[in-house]
Amino acid sequence: MSTALEITDLSVSYDGVRAVRRVSLAAQSGEMVCLIGSNGAGKTSTMGAIMGVVPSTTLSIKLFGEEIGHLKPHQRVQQGLSLVPEGRGILTRMTVLENLQIGSYPARSTPVQVQADIERMFTTFPRLKERAHQLAGTMSGGEQQMLALARALMCHPRVLLLDEPSMGLSPIMVDTIFRVVEQVHKSGVTVLLVEQNAALALDIADRGYVMSSGTITLFGDANALAADQRVKEAYLGE
Ligand SMILES: Nc1ncnc2c1ncn2[C@@H]1O[C@H](COP(=O)(O)OP(=O)(O)OP(=O)(O)O)[C@@H](O)[C@H]1O
Ligand SMILES: [Mg+2]
Repeated sequence: MSTALEITDLSVSYDGVRAVRRVSLAAQSGEMVCLIGSNGAGKTSTMGAIMGVVPSTTLSIKLFGEEIGHLKPHQRVQQGLSLVPEGRGILTRMTVLENLQIGSYPARSTPVQVQADIERMFTTFPRLKERAHQLAGTMSGGEQQMLALARALMCHPRVLLLDEPSMGLSPIMVDTIFRVVEQVHKSGVTVLLVEQNAALALDIADRGYVMSSGTITLFGDANALAADQRVKEAYLGE
């Protein structure tokens, strides 16, 4: 098994205050790995730093063995990394279709390929097809999350970073989103999933990391973490 993503000593500071301290983590090719932790632990900062949208001091970020830590975010996308950011980050004053078209820019797809990708997304998310010409900001939270996921998938990621896809969604919508995430994962995409819903994350992930106050405090097999007394007490409400 090859290593899809390998982060070594990632640190993030805001105005001199350290939010993430020397975090190292890895995902094997085809793995679904989750990162859990309480509010303010540094999960979003870590994801942003991996994507290159949050400045960090990082020893190394390797994507399938290639160093990408010096690349700009769009170049990382071209190398096969995509992020569905926390809060979705869609363009609310643009239509669904425009969001998908813009989403494909970093991948430098040809117009024919973009059209095929849009059709593929409309098959995966029929709801988005129905709403192709609707302004994204007028859609429900669940529909916006579908769009955020579809937009990231337009770039054919080999490694998909998901930051709190379940946030603010109804249980049915969480089901819909996670069914697609599992489908994407089964198609061979490596997934790094940040979730506030630790039970859900540990249920679908192969392995997990627990983050607390900017550092990784525990990691291992997802089932083992779900059975760990410390995880149960702190994150599973038991
Ligand atoms: N742009 C910023 N400027 C200043 N401080 C920030 C900024 N973004 C995050 N922080 C701080 O960094 C720390 C980690 O935040 P981060 O958003 O990475 O945590 P998180 O684990 O994603 O939390 P949550 O579960 O609430 O999403 C927090 O103390 C936060 O206040
Ligand atoms: Mg966050």
